[in-house]
Amino acid sequence: MTQPIGERDLIQLSRGVPPVEAIPTAELCRQTVEVLSEFSGSIFQYAPMGRNPGDVHLREELGQFHGVEPDRLFVGNGSLQVLDLVTAHLARDSHFEVFAEAPTYDRALRIFERRGAKVLGIPIEGDGIDIDYLRRQLKSGAPAFLYTIPDFQNPTGATLSIDKRHALVALAEEHGFPIVEDIPYRGLRYVGSTPPTLGELANPARVITIGSLSKILCPGLRIGYAISDPSTSSDLAALAEDTYLSPPLLCQKVAAKSFAAGLVHANLVRVRDLLRPRHDAAVTVAREILGDALLTVPGGGYFMSARIPTYAEESELLAAARAEGVVLTSGRAFYPNASAEATGHFFLRIPFQSLTPQQLAFGLRKVLEFTERRWACVA
Ligand SMILES: Cc1ncc(COP(=O)(O)O)c(C=O)c1O
Repeated sequence: MTQPIGERDLIQLSRGVPPVEAIPTAELCRQTVEVLSEFSGSIFQYAPMGRNPGDVHLREELGQFHGVEPDRLFVGNGSLQVLDLVTAHLARDSHFEVFAEAPTYDRALRIFERRGAKVLGIPIEGDGIDIDYLRRQLKSGAPAFLYTIPDFQNPTGATLSIDKRHALVALAEEHGFPIVEDIPYRGLRYVGSTPPTLGELANPARVITIGSLSKILCPGLRIGYAISDPSTSSDLAALAEDTYLSPPLLCQKVAAKSFAAGLVHANLVRVRDLLRPRHDAAVTVAREILGDALLTVPGGGYFMSARIPTYAEESELLAAARAEGVVLTSGRAFYPNASAEATGHFFLRIPFQSLTPQQLAFGLRKVLEFTERRWACVA
């Protein structure tokens, strides 16, 4: 009888979770103890009411980190919730349209759809969103906003080129739509130099930049933030107060202390050094096994991706892989309305941050084995 595969033996080609060794647990404990002794008289109370944009010291630290004034910062509970608040802020009525890269982060799509948006997918290429396609779509009208992940995109791994950054900002100005850029992986660059954010290239009223400490410090403190013009920050704070009354004071103080103690900067360097060799090894393995199907060599972040020819039903493919101990994420979930972008392909997101080359090779060979079998049956 074959042994059932235990959870611990599974090869996770699915989630973008930081490896435990990327989290500076002991130092975070030290910062937490200091916060508890210094602020015990206030952190167990509600924060002051009235459009509270988050801990003042944390906003100062984040302001310095990004080179912006603290009054442009609103801090929420993880960047996904900040995205939800930003969506509520920009959705002026119950029917609105959002443009997003296709594929894009599946949870962002679910947020837009839940808030009532019709989402139009703009194809993404190796150097970011397809600007010509976008230009054609804009002839039929501008969206309530355009959502983009310009650095090491989830799920493709693509980074928006500098020329496309300028073109996108120019189109937003010309057609009068806001851009929401989501940059949780931006600090994790393993090769090359970092282009400016869209927010740095544009007028502050045109772009809302959403950042996160989840991938550079830890996800458990739930520190996500928006950089916008000061009046939008204040509106987001009002929406937040109506949603959850008060920011979590302990988490925000620990994050502020971690910045002040140099822990965020030190951990960022440490995580880059930890993940760079994993990225390089994963690219070598994926190139060897997937060849032309490989869409991106990301140079940073957590993900690369591939489009694998197959006639397999996606649900069957996921089940077959799971039975062999390989956990995959639905490729269709990364497209608006969970639509398949093109029949005859499986879109595979490859998170490389936690896998050894051996695990990745095993996982990719299993995916190929099954997809090729189904391709050969029909082709
Ligand atoms: C593009 C993108 N945005 C937002 C998030 C959510 O991050 P947070 O932990 O800050 O909510 C993720 C998490 O994986 C992500 O990939």
